[in-house]
Amino acid sequence: MTSAIEIRDLNFKYETEDVLKYINLEVPKGSFVSILGPNGSGKTTLLKNICNLLEPYEGVIVVGEQPVEGYKSRELAKKMAVVHQSVSTDFDFNVEDVVLMGRFPYIGRFQSERTSDMDIAKASMQQTATYHLRSKSIKSISGGERQRVMIARALTQEPQILLLDEPISHLDIKYQLEILKLCRSLNKTENLTILTTLHDINLANRFSDFIVLMNHGEIVEMGAPSEVMTKDNIKRVYEVEVEVVKLSQFDNPMIVLL
Ligand SMILES: Nc1ncnc2c1ncn2[C@@H]1O[C@H](COP(=O)(O)OP(=O)(O)O)[C@@H](O)[C@H]1O
Ligand SMILES: [Mg+2]
Repeated sequence: MTSAIEIRDLNFKYETEDVLKYINLEVPKGSFVSILGPNGSGKTTLLKNICNLLEPYEGVIVVGEQPVEGYKSRELAKKMAVVHQSVSTDFDFNVEDVVLMGRFPYIGRFQSERTSDMDIAKASMQQTATYHLRSKSIKSISGGERQRVMIARALTQEPQILLLDEPISHLDIKYQLEILKLCRSLNKTENLTILTTLHDINLANRFSDFIVLMNHGEIVEMGAPSEVMTKDNIKRVYEVEVEVVKLSQFDNPMIVLL
């Protein structure tokens, strides 16, 4: 099993306090991996280390064949696309231009987009149900629509790895399901490796090959959903009582809060 991402002994501090404490993690190529854990457990910080926005204090993160800090940003962007949690809306581009920005790793400094770039952007908008928004200002659409546009932009990069930070947090349940189904289908059909943070345990159980459960900057447990999301682990990490229920239509169990 080859790794898309390999993290060895990652330690990270914002100031003096350890926020990530010696994380070791392998994300297999073509897998769908969800990171779960309470607020403040270090999920976003981990993703930002992986995409080279933050620099580890100790340890190494390998993406593909080389450490992430060795990549030129365009080269990294061809391999890995990131959808961050909060989307800045200070700028006033229309949706189509925002999605086309995903082609930046492929377009030279004084070149303009080619027809093929436009086609890829259009396909990404169609996949995320944002094509009808293409002429609207990014400022004038809803939070959920903006989240889908940012996913469209990421897909336009044609990455092998997609990092998502709470991609469904501002979406209504219809689009929560649609976005995760889309991610899962790209994962299966295009072998896109997905590493996402999520809060919804049941959706994570349903769509993930592996779950990484974090608490206080450490990985508490990782493995198949049914192994990780047990009554005891959930109690230990979230301090809530749950019941684990098996539904015949899903492979992985459902978690019901008591
Ligand atoms: N820019 C920052 N400066 C200092 N501390 C931060 C910063 N961002 C996050 N933290 C702290 O790091 C810890 C982990 O945060 P974060 O990675 O955002 O957790 P999560 O995404 O799991 O909610 C928290 O204690 C948070 O307060
Ligand atoms: Mg976060």
